[in-house]
Amino acid sequence: MSQAPIRVGILGCGTVGSALVKLIRDETAAVKDRTGVDLTVTRVAVRNLSTDRGIDFEPGVLTRDPRALVEDPEVDVVVETMGGIEPARQLILAALEAGKPVVTANKELVANCGAELFEAAGRNSVDIQFEAAVGGGIPLIRVLRESLVGERIITMMGIVNGTTNYILTKMTEDGAAYAEVLADAQQLGYAEADPTADVEGHDAGAKAAIMATIAFGSSVVPGDVHQEGISRISSEDIEAARRLDHVIKLLAIVEQADGKVSARVHPAIVPLTHPLASVRDSFNAVFVRGEAVDDLMLYGRGAGGAPTASAMFGDLIEAAANLQRGTHIELGHLEAADVTPIDETSSAFYVPLDVVDEPGVLAAVATIFGRNGVSIGSMEQQGQGDNARILLITHVAREADMQATIAELKDLDAVLRVGNLIRVIGS
Ligand SMILES: NC(=O)c1ccc[n+]([C@@H]2O[C@H](COP(=O)([O-])OP(=O)(O)OC[C@H]3O[C@@H](n4cnc5c(N)ncnc54)[C@H](OP(=O)(O)O)[C@@H]3O)[C@@H](O)[C@H]2O)c1
Repeated sequence: MSQAPIRVGILGCGTVGSALVKLIRDETAAVKDRTGVDLTVTRVAVRNLSTDRGIDFEPGVLTRDPRALVEDPEVDVVVETMGGIEPARQLILAALEAGKPVVTANKELVANCGAELFEAAGRNSVDIQFEAAVGGGIPLIRVLRESLVGERIITMMGIVNGTTNYILTKMTEDGAAYAEVLADAQQLGYAEADPTADVEGHDAGAKAAIMATIAFGSSVVPGDVHQEGISRISSEDIEAARRLDHVIKLLAIVEQADGKVSARVHPAIVPLTHPLASVRDSFNAVFVRGEAVDDLMLYGRGAGGAPTASAMFGDLIEAAANLQRGTHIELGHLEAADVTPIDETSSAFYVPLDVVDEPGVLAAVATIFGRNGVSIGSMEQQGQGDNARILLITHVAREADMQATIAELKDLDAVLRVGNLIRVIGS
């Protein structure tokens, strides 16, 4: 027996929303043949009714009233592509309370209010799906929730921000300075006019919070994530990494050990032999290490209208199928995670020091490292006289011990400048 079409209401019709409307229109017949799910878009809410979106809507489909869309009896499933916390949060909660499944790509909202939204979905026995909120077009949430549901995830490391990966790739491959590449990226539309959320690691921080929440089953919010961006990375740092056969990447890292979760975003020096080193331009990837599965990596387009809409379309088809079957995905109640502060995490560090070129300097530097329990893995001297520079790479050390070392080095007369401390990952 043929089922009635599932009626879809879409909040927002910008980059992602318009790509999703087109995908639904182009692929609905094929999807119906493959899955039995028939979708039709009945309402679309926007701010400006006269904007040309390259789509012909039937009269009455476009509305400026998002609340009326959510409450409309001719909407069975709500898709949110508006962005921001409010009014998206209120609208999604209203849809869930009305028993309507929700699909969203809103990383800011899911990262900050995930536990509240999952609870409301569970209470009302409907789906909330958010595949596109972390990796854009990269399937990650469903892989964690289904394929890896029995896996003990040890760590996940992601390049989850396309803008910063594009900037670092250009700095590495063209030898260009950060400010120059950022200006080009803004001109080309790869970076926002205000790039702060991308370049200071806040966008990646929201994604790290969602990754940790889903991978480890306890609520991690952006405030739990240590966030450092790439604005301090210089051409000198890029060149030093290159000479060591490494590249610099902005990584979102989530880990679980002894029941505690750590989540952080920072630039990292990654060996060229690591799979994440080959992720170039605006591409994204998430590297997962599990107890049984060992290493795996998911790679693709982390943003863009069509890739993001592809992930949302998958969510929408699953949510519609679940609604027809009277089932839903159970995300469960999430307790706040026990979070390890950055000071208690460990990694290896790259430390560049400008020093005076005189006898005893190396010994004085080494003494400070030793006193703080940080062991030096390799040390190289570059230049002489006024240009003398020592490049050190430590063995794995506690963050707090490394910071204490840096504080002491800054007080040493023979050290003229402590350069950028960069963590070394994946060696
Ligand atoms: N763009 C990407 O590559 C990407 C990737 C992954 C996830 N996402 C997420 O997807 C979401 C949407 O991103 P986007 O790039 O598509 O944004 P966008 O191009 O700015 O589109 C936002 C849409 O929402 C509508 N809107 C905003 N506030 C509204 C309100 N109060 N009432 C009615 N309509 C409202 C806008 O209407 P008007 O058009 O009339 O202004 C517009 O159509 C965000 O949560 C974003 O984080 C985006």
